Amino acid sequence: MAKVYTDKDADLGVLQNKTLAVLGFGSQGHAHALNLKDSGLNVIIGLYEGSKSIPVAQEKGFKVVSTAEAVRRADVIFVSLPDTKQPSIYEKDIKPNLKPGKTLLFAHGFSIHFKTIVPPKNVNVILVAPKGPGHTVRRQYVEGKGVPSLIAVYQGGSAAKKIALAWAKGIGGTRAGVLETSFKEETETDLFGEQTVLCGGASALVQAGFETLVEAGYSPEMAYFECLHELKLIADLMNESGISGMRFSISETAKWGDVSVGPKIIDASVKKRMKAALKDIQSGKFAKNWVAEYKGGYKKYNALLKKGENHPIEKTGAKLRAMMPWMKKHKIKGAQAAY
Ligand SMILES: NC(=O)c1ccc[n+]([C@@H]2O[C@H](COP(=O)([O-])OP(=O)(O)OC[C@H]3O[C@@H](n4cnc5c(N)ncnc54)[C@H](OP(=O)(O)O)[C@@H]3O)[C@@H](O)[C@H]2O)c1
Repeated sequence: MAKVYTDKDADLGVLQNKTLAVLGFGSQGHAHALNLKDSGLNVIIGLYEGSKSIPVAQEKGFKVVSTAEAVRRADVIFVSLPDTKQPSIYEKDIKPNLKPGKTLLFAHGFSIHFKTIVPPKNVNVILVAPKGPGHTVRRQYVEGKGVPSLIAVYQGGSAAKKIALAWAKGIGGTRAGVLETSFKEETETDLFGEQTVLCGGASALVQAGFETLVEAGYSPEMAYFECLHELKLIADLMNESGISGMRFSISETAKWGDVSVGPKIIDASVKKRMKAALKDIQSGKFAKNWVAEYKGGYKKYNALLKKGENHPIEKTGAKLRAMMPWMKKHKIKGAQAAY
């Protein structure tokens, strides 16, 4: 069984008196930057001229400099940029300003594992990947909790591992628990999870369930509650105590439907397609296609996202959420509420 690293295994002192640069101030960037600052560390932000995030970061009290300048000034550089954009920014702003002994830190292993970035041997290359969206990383930290995280060392040995553990502590990860993995394992399992179960799988399952009920004449509101709203409540139970633990809390009728009908819906053919998706990830085919999609101007990507935004479940959900007292009270409009 892998070791779970907690607060006592990590020394924040490793990062004290160091300059930590966060390149980008998006989902992961803003969360790491704010958490590290609140942990008493010296964080600067690197952004490109004209970035919409410059005033946001400044308003949060950060010194914002150009991406290249941030790399020049920093000891540890968090590449918190979209995976597809990382290679060109690396060539232009990061590589020319790297010095031996500096540390490059990633929240996902994509660029290193698929070699769209090949750093020199004399810099540390590490990964600190919270297993959750950036806004949750921030929210949990503010609540005194943390998001379980992964660390990995690609280059730099035990000294680099200490930096990864300290960073994980600074963002609140060791409060929840940190596991060590490799860049390869993190990259491939992360892509597989988000494609087939968490994002792709769950979204498609919810939409198909909603469509089935609405097409059968049930009201969209009922379909929304059954297929989307309650998903979180069930997922929370699974998260707390596993699938069997979740089953402890549901009725006998729900349990019978779960075990007797569920496997007919998510059947062997789904697993076969999951294996095909995994193969495409392992062979690099998915990464190659994704980079080509970026280079072609995100045409298919934007069209598919638009199609998702226009799905009837979105209208029903927006209307219902606006009417729910708890959502109204906390002015929850989506992930940006965590900023
Ligand atoms: N999203 C997540 O929760 C999550 C979870 C785990 C791992 N990750 C990983 O974390 C990394 C960052 O992803 P993300 O989703 O947090 O990114 P994101 O939300 O898309 O934010 C990217 C940031 O990069 C900035 N940027 C773009 N070009 C730049 C340049 N030339 N110089 C400096 N900054 C530039 C953007 O500026 P603007 O603000 O002006 O657009 C934005 O602030 C990726 O490796 C991703 O795989 C993300």
